[in-house]
Amino acid sequence: MKTFLHVNDLGPLDLALAEAAEIKADRYKYEHLGHHKTALLIFFNNSLRTRLSTQKAARNLGLDVMVLDVNQGAWKLETERGVVMDGDKSEHLLEAIPVMASFCDIIGVRTFAGLTNRQADYAENILSQFIKYSGRPVFSMESATAHPLQAFADLITIEEHKETKRPKVVLTWAPHPRALPQAVPNSFAEWMRAADVDFVVTHPHGYELDPLFVGDAHVEYDQLKALKGADFVYAKNWSCPGVANADDYGKILSKDMSWTVDEAHMAVTNNAQFMHCLPVRRNMIVTDDVIESPRSLVIPEAANREISATVVLKHLLEAL
Ligand code: CP
Repeated sequence: MKTFLHVNDLGPLDLALAEAAEIKADRYKYEHLGHHKTALLIFFNNSLRTRLSTQKAARNLGLDVMVLDVNQGAWKLETERGVVMDGDKSEHLLEAIPVMASFCDIIGVRTFAGLTNRQADYAENILSQFIKYSGRPVFSMESATAHPLQAFADLITIEEHKETKRPKVVLTWAPHPRALPQAVPNSFAEWMRAADVDFVVTHPHGYELDPLFVGDAHVEYDQLKALKGADFVYAKNWSCPGVANADDYGKILSKDMSWTVDEAHMAVTNNAQFMHCLPVRRNMIVTDDVIESPRSLVIPEAANREISATVVLKHLLEAL
């Protein structure tokens, strides 16, 4: 594996899940793989879970780790070619990438959607440049449009906690005060379609996810109807993906608090377990009672970020 952006990059999911279980039982089993090798983790925006879990995963595999916060500890980077650099950005990505690559063997990149230009965000300009110019394996630590390490951790969590062979998993939109990217729901939809689950997406009209990720998944606009009989409820906000109208891309079309996941929503499910990638806005996305309930998986789900990252880094190291 040379890059990790999409579910297909990892190979058969049943094997990846078996590897996840193996690593969870003995997370240092492959410690020799990273000996005298270095992972560079580059953050273009904030992170708690990805920052910590990916470092832990790298250390599980014996890797040295370097973390760079672009625009904080380093020079501000220009990412567009052709720009007259007379502003506050001192260095261009086209020089910075090969320089950074010369100090490491694997590169993880976290970028963020600008949410003003759908075409630019979905082109993944920054991540693509790392893949093209670094000469190193590159893995996404969340990009403008996808968050595969999160989706893999979500799938591991569902596999560990499912109480039926083929559970019903519902991804529900929920309100949020700020416009958020579609990276998490995009990847969650992509990974659930590849997994052995009954997958349903529910959101208000206008929030249709990109067909590249959601494919032919069942979309149900009536939230309570979608949640009926669910075994897992995965709540997440996202801004308008602009599929029907690119002018609406990144906009907040609804703050309808009736979509907040509360006990009345959970009551129509099959005693569902609650999931969210975190960070979460309590009493916007989900009520205190639901997130604190014994059926909430948000903490084991976050802890599984270490496991998903260890499996992914293992694959990248094995291909060096
Ligand atoms: N879920 C997630 O990626 O969290 P962070 O943004 O804190 O890394």
